[in-house]
Amino acid sequence: MHHFSYHGSSLHCEEVDLAEIAGLYGTPTYVYSAATITDNVTRLQRSLADLDLQVCYAMKANSSLAVLRLFANLGTGFDLVSGGEIRRVLAAGANIRSSVFAGVGKTEEEIELALQEGVYAFHVESEPELARINHVAGRLGLTARIAIRINPDVDAKTHAKITTGKSDNKFGIPMSVAAEAYGAAAKLPNIKVAGVQMHIGSQLTSVGPFREAVEKVVPFVAQLQREHALEYFSIGGGIGIIYEDALASGQADWWERFSEDERPLTPELYGAVLSPLLQPLGLKILLEPGRFLIGNAGVMLSRVEYLKRGANKNFLVIDAAMNDLARPSMYDSYHEIVPVERDTSRAAMVADVVGPICESGDCFAKGRELQSVGEGELVAFLSAGAYGFTMASNYNTRGRPAEVLVRGSAFELVHERESFERQIAGEKIPGFLA
Ligand code: LLP
Repeated sequence: MHHFSYHGSSLHCEEVDLAEIAGLYGTPTYVYSAATITDNVTRLQRSLADLDLQVCYAMKANSSLAVLRLFANLGTGFDLVSGGEIRRVLAAGANIRSSVFAGVGKTEEEIELALQEGVYAFHVESEPELARINHVAGRLGLTARIAIRINPDVDAKTHAKITTGKSDNKFGIPMSVAAEAYGAAAKLPNIKVAGVQMHIGSQLTSVGPFREAVEKVVPFVAQLQREHALEYFSIGGGIGIIYEDALASGQADWWERFSEDERPLTPELYGAVLSPLLQPLGLKILLEPGRFLIGNAGVMLSRVEYLKRGANKNFLVIDAAMNDLARPSMYDSYHEIVPVERDTSRAAMVADVVGPICESGDCFAKGRELQSVGEGELVAFLSAGAYGFTMASNYNTRGRPAEVLVRGSAFELVHERESFERQIAGEKIPGFLA
């Protein structure tokens, strides 16, 4: 469920006409719905209400300060993966005391910053990292809480680039050697063994792999609990969202079309299956969802530059490109593209929707059927709230898009479009070329 729908013929985010936002701030622009984010957090918390739950929003999905502040106000912690992300949380006026620090390559400086700011725990990916955390904590006279990331060797059945729980991924420690790693961790003077972590992949659309992984790891957690005073078990993120029928999935009755067995993964199903497996542990349960919380809460607005009629196909050339929304070119992923002004009297057209960047990979959709639109008209890319802006780049010296947050009938520009001056600030011509 989300808050993007047509009011009459105009696509709105909550009570705000998206054409008004595009008129004021230009395109391409990301627009986020605060009500959708709030609903997503509440729904997930409710579906796991039987557990002592801490949601740590995986901010790599969308780390705009305004979005972070909203999550902090809703009581989530954060799943952090860099010193930059820690600084962003602080800049948003929040703290990292309920947050966890993950990632395979934590530097000394990042570990120091996380400890100084009182991070709840480190999610450790290797033995040398454990030694480094112990060393930095000792230098600062602090104790670091840790969980080791277990690789449960489960096939998440998702895109190869975003599956993480197979033994040939770079992530985590195999279960077979984890007991030993925990034994070694417990002996380190500045480390406190506090939890167990796992994460099997992203954009999972069925509950099966989650069930399989939890069932595999729970006995290990129970065993460890007898040896160490554990506080928590983190089951990672990865809950998938609806991309294919994104607009319709905003309506409450869309879900009724499916029988229970065929229904796309919902937080209710996730909770109903996992809660009974986790409850007997009596531990705090951490979740690190990114995409589920923000994915359907954002759209990217873009304007049509040209309709280029080719010999055997049409190209809809828009002002957004692969640098603004990288997912289609990187993962061949699908985003529904809809007109901001709907006109049902117009015929449909079939076109490749492409950006202006000089490579063929700059293509959002091939042979897509959509309402005929022409130069100057607006389209919206749905389900673009997660891994949209955060993966944007300056390729082709394009400034990154603007970002707007909507709540009810209120909206604000929360991130101005990146100017050319901002792009080249920090660059210089070396003396030997002057
Ligand atoms: N926890 C860990 C340890 C992760 O590596 C990730 C995502 C998450 C949590 C959050 O996963 P989520 O709930 O958002 O699925 N750029 C890709 C997705 C990369 C995901 C990386 N790790 C995309 O656009 O699909």
